[in-house]
Amino acid sequence: MKSSTQTILEHTQIPRHVAIIMDGNGRWAKKRFLPRVMGHKKGVDQLEAAVRRCSELGVEYLTVFAFSTENWRRPSDEVSFLMGLFVEALKKKVQALHRNGLRLRVIGNRDKFPTQIVDGIEESEKLTANNPGMTLTIAADFGGRQDILRAVNELLKEGVTTITEEDMLRHLSLGDAPEPDLFIRTGGEARISNFMLWQMAYAELYFTDTLWPDFDANELDKAIASFQKRERRFGRTSEQLPKDEQRP
Ligand code: IPE
Ligand code: IPE
Ligand code: MG
Repeated sequence: MKSSTQTILEHTQIPRHVAIIMDGNGRWAKKRFLPRVMGHKKGVDQLEAAVRRCSELGVEYLTVFAFSTENWRRPSDEVSFLMGLFVEALKKKVQALHRNGLRLRVIGNRDKFPTQIVDGIEESEKLTANNPGMTLTIAADFGGRQDILRAVNELLKEGVTTITEEDMLRHLSLGDAPEPDLFIRTGGEARISNFMLWQMAYAELYFTDTLWPDFDANELDKAIASFQKRERRFGRTSEQLPKDEQRP
């Protein structure tokens, strides 16, 4: 489905970090009497479009939820297909990311992935690590609660007795990046589904019924335009805010 009206964006106040739950692939396929996996395939193309648009707009970090720890519960043929897509994308798309100066990171557990994926992730991260452009982070076998628990357990191993927010940031995935400013979920559900729980404490939330395979650059612009209308108060009153304040 094409968006009918073109969104005009202010090029100031672009979120530094956008986080997306790319949901609705299965329903997109079902509506077309296609197997669910065709929705995932189209979803990868739409991710490419989102990466291009975010990078063009000057977003510094784009983090996308590709596979949750809970998604292992899906039928095994769908899980295998998704793993295959991941391998293919690592093989075919990373060179283009690198050519465009982008960095790729992958967060989440790696121990359940086939070695082909683990090797592909390590190579891609190494290849793109020093690039100057936007950081694209793929959350795969990722769970927000598990990420918090892992951080706490690592801190316990260090022998700490009290834990500060700074300690947590040293151990959480993406703790070294700015927190997501804008969180987008496509596909009509208004839930967080165990995505980055700690880091999303003050993200602006944007939910849309648009299914991920239909979420094109103009849909992304609409989400950013909505973000630009929000007043981020971080606990303060409206009157306390300097005119251009966006972050705490
Ligand atoms: C999101 O689309 C992609 C993954 C979870 C891998 P879904 O597969 O959840 O699509 P719906 O929600 O069933 O439409
Ligand atoms: C969340 O989507 C995870 C990803 C998009 C990868 P789901 O479609 O699996 O979420 P729930 O289970 O319906 O909340
Ligand atoms: Mg879903």
